[in-house]
Amino acid sequence: MKLSVEILDEIRRKYGEAFYLLDSAQFRKNFCELKEAFSAIYPYFNIAYSYKTNYTPRLCKIVNELGGYAEVVSEMEVELALKVGVRPQKIIWNGPIKNPMKMEEFLRQGGTVNIDSLEEARLIKKMAERNPEQILNVGIRCNFDVHDGVLSRFGVDVNSHDFISILDCIKGMSNIMLINLHCHFAKRQIEYWPARAKGMLDLIERIGIMPKKVDLGGGLFGKMEDSLKEQFASPIPDYTDYAKAVATIFAERFKNMPDAPELLIEPGSALVGDCMKFAGTVKTIKSVRGKQIASVLGSQKNISMSGVNPPLEIFSMGAGQQKYQDIDFVGFTCIESDVLYRGYTGFVASGDMVVISNCGSYSLVMKPPFILPNFPVLDISGGKMEVIKRGETFDDVFCTFCF
Ligand SMILES: Cc1ncc(COP(=O)(O)O)c(C=O)c1O
Repeated sequence: MKLSVEILDEIRRKYGEAFYLLDSAQFRKNFCELKEAFSAIYPYFNIAYSYKTNYTPRLCKIVNELGGYAEVVSEMEVELALKVGVRPQKIIWNGPIKNPMKMEEFLRQGGTVNIDSLEEARLIKKMAERNPEQILNVGIRCNFDVHDGVLSRFGVDVNSHDFISILDCIKGMSNIMLINLHCHFAKRQIEYWPARAKGMLDLIERIGIMPKKVDLGGGLFGKMEDSLKEQFASPIPDYTDYAKAVATIFAERFKNMPDAPELLIEPGSALVGDCMKFAGTVKTIKSVRGKQIASVLGSQKNISMSGVNPPLEIFSMGAGQQKYQDIDFVGFTCIESDVLYRGYTGFVASGDMVVISNCGSYSLVMKPPFILPNFPVLDISGGKMEVIKRGETFDDVFCTFCF
């Protein structure tokens, strides 16, 4: 997506002074590249896209079109997956709390539920008893130590009594099929990835069950500008680094085995992070006790990046650009810490547009209706301007309140 003053000016005149730009072509490219990186080493591989990261229906449809799975974590996301045309067999439902009625309906349709607790396993057992004619497909979210310094609250400790009880629950019902063993760890550094694969393969060995799928979860870095990479303490792996770290272990372990499981990963950020930009107009520039401050129609809440300076470009669309040293770009909210970028040096004027890249993950979906409704999302990747989400209005925010 190549931006110019002309393109931004046209969008601004049509859609207002702040907006997101989606690059759905880049998303498609990322999916195919990531799939290829893993499949080249271990062919029985697929991607389950983490809906919560950015559940824009256009993106969910692309994943479905490309044969990927939907990884969802709530009944809302199940509904979305079904609405965009995903078959229940291609939906994996994770998460610590699931609505029991919706879960039963989903299991009856052929979807996979990853069990997160013994309570959930017992609920599913009751569902299996109520539906003796139906096969219910389940997985277990496995919690073990990958030595990343985190004690995760998700899933079931594979060394616990609960884990054994869950297996007993499943084995006790001929119509519950354990088709998936799943784990997810949030730390993205490559060093923790082999431990995921080894942990899961050791578990398979120990329990003597070969599931149809082994799902190693998300938590991969995506593509990013060098200016962003430099702000991380450790090197940023690319898709092939992750593939080498885990797919190789699977390829060796399941060499020439007819019942080799399908290897899944559940990326969100790695697919969508670089597929969205946020553009906001500089509205005021002032100096407070010697500190230069530019206020932007946009917020840290729009870009959902903190602790780093995001990749930023200024488009000269105002009048009277001046060179500033160490100017901060701050957001429209009333929070002191709402700073989009600290310490910029360069030419800026009121009326310019600030374009921030790498805003695709946990941005749109996590923007609260705080102070302002959210801005529109436009896809300009196909050479035409398409509204993906219209700008929110007063009514969108207040229609659930009783006046
Ligand atoms: C179970 C599960 N899968 C996948 C993801 C996606 O993670 P990421 O966006 O880091 O790839 C998450 C994120 O928290 C998750 O909890």
